[in-house]
Amino acid sequence: MRAFSTVIIAWQKDHGRHDLPWQNTTNPYAIWVSEIMLQQTQVTAVIVYYANFLARFQSIADLANATQEEVLQSWSGLGYYSRARNLHNAAQTIVDDFNGVFPTDFDDIISLPGIGRSTAAAISTFALDRPQPILDGNVKRVFARHFLVEGWTSKPAVQQQLWTIAEQENPPQDAIAYTQGLMDLGSSVCTHSKPKCELCPVNKSCKALANDQTKNLPTPKPKKTIPHKETIMLVIRMGNEVLLEKRPQKGIWAGLWSLPEISMAEIASEVAYERLGLTVEPDEPLAVVNHVFTHYKLDITPQPLKVTSTPRQKERAGYIWMVVVDAIDAALPTPVRNILLSISNPNS
Ligand code: ADE
Repeated sequence: MRAFSTVIIAWQKDHGRHDLPWQNTTNPYAIWVSEIMLQQTQVTAVIVYYANFLARFQSIADLANATQEEVLQSWSGLGYYSRARNLHNAAQTIVDDFNGVFPTDFDDIISLPGIGRSTAAAISTFALDRPQPILDGNVKRVFARHFLVEGWTSKPAVQQQLWTIAEQENPPQDAIAYTQGLMDLGSSVCTHSKPKCELCPVNKSCKALANDQTKNLPTPKPKKTIPHKETIMLVIRMGNEVLLEKRPQKGIWAGLWSLPEISMAEIASEVAYERLGLTVEPDEPLAVVNHVFTHYKLDITPQPLKVTSTPRQKERAGYIWMVVVDAIDAALPTPVRNILLSISNPNS
């Protein structure tokens, strides 16, 4: 099988884009401006802004001498305005520190405001004949699928894996066609949804395709962590029986038998126990049990209580005393069953 890069290069030459406005120049300033605009904006939206920006600020010196107001005005409508401010500041740095000439050293390029590793690599490859591997959002998707890299692609460990792939696959020659080819493949074939795998030049070696994983890769950004709630479940035993409370008909575990619950705030208050019709004394709490719902996590502290007076009237509405081993077989929420399993022993 031909190397990945060889196939991408050949495909780019036949099927890739060749007349984007920033493709037929090696002027580092023009390529820098294009890469900054393309960081967060689609090619079609960039094209007009790009031409206007370069017409208004024709050189690094022009940009450095402009006011921030003028630069922002030219950027108006593109969004993510820190890009424009960084571009302006970087132009002034280039005038001050690099005699107005765009630096060729990779560390110098990356030190400029607004230029991260992938943008520096694109400028270095397209403008300076110093190929470096790139890894923008589209390329992450291509690599995550083709090389089957799981995990959110901006997670540091995953990103590191992808950079290693980017370095290993970067070809010794034809770096411009290769780099442009990865971008073209990502934007036209290996798209986020409905990738056109039948048109992909590397479909035979694509691990995601072979494993039917193109839909699942790249792994999406993890959702915000779900909220944490906590509760105390009272474990009240008399002889071999335990007191259960019926859950309301609405909400979680509706209608199931569960252990009576109190909040953390109520734990110290005797009033909290009054509804049980018992006089009780807390024992040492048991180990916390975690339960995960779709919308939150619940930490349950099981709190054993010693009954210090026998109730005058044993059963109250909504409550039931059940032999522990029978309760385990009743309609209980799983964590409640697990708590009862942990306290049950064959002799009780
Ligand atoms: N996205 C980022 N850089 C690009 C480029 N040079 N051509 C097309 N899309 C891009």
